[in-house]
Amino acid sequence: MGIETAFLEFPLLETDRLLLREIYLYDAPNMFSYFSKDEVTKYYDLESFTSEKEAEDLIRRFQQRYSERKQIRWAITLRDNSDQLIGTCGFHAIEEEHYKAEIGYELHPDFWGQGIMTEVIEAVIQYGFKSMQLNRIEAFYDPRNGSSGRVLEKNGFEFEGILKKRYFEKGKFVDAAVSAILNENIR
Ligand SMILES: CC(C)(COP(=O)(O)OP(=O)(O)OC[C@H]1O[C@@H](n2cnc3c(N)ncnc32)[C@H](O)[C@@H]1OP(=O)(O)O)[C@@H](O)C(=O)NCCC(=O)NCCS
Repeated sequence: MGIETAFLEFPLLETDRLLLREIYLYDAPNMFSYFSKDEVTKYYDLESFTSEKEAEDLIRRFQQRYSERKQIRWAITLRDNSDQLIGTCGFHAIEEEHYKAEIGYELHPDFWGQGIMTEVIEAVIQYGFKSMQLNRIEAFYDPRNGSSGRVLEKNGFEFEGILKKRYFEKGKFVDAAVSAILNENIR
């Protein structure tokens, strides 16, 4: 038990509809299919991808940071089609000494509005609190990103405030909303 649990063997998480698994290089075409869309990158610190190689590079970075025990990112798949990545979710900015991590996520637009990310976040934060023994999970998002704020709220995250012009993204300073959930707040 503890943060190291996540890095001993890649944890497989199951929910009613989904299987969350490790991300592999063969997932690059499916990842490219959504990171090439402006509606996905609109509030993301990424320009829309123009080549599949950018997805491969991102997957390699996920794998590298996992091997350095800096972050963990799951592939989101439907239970009956676990070969097809439809999004990702995971923890980064893990600070072991503070028992804290940040959560991040994105989903292919074909699957938006079906409660999928709500189901993913529920499983991921349960894993974070129960197995990794985190005390606090926080999320930073663009205050204009209504669905991101809502999906956090549905999972019991509490809005803590706005950090003005916190990030320089795509040539502009942008505000960051911060929401968090504590171990003591979960059921
Ligand atoms: C944010 C995102 C992951 C949500 O995934 P999802 O599976 O559609 O989320 P859910 O269906 O579980 O919940 C979405 C909720 O937001 C609501 N919503 C959708 N658009 C909204 C908007 N513009 N403003 C407020 N709420 C909105 C939905 O109605 C739903 O709430 P409800 O169940 O009360 O009706 C998805 O939209 C996405 O990948 N966006 C692009 C990437 C991104 O911005 N990632 C987050 C970066 S911080």
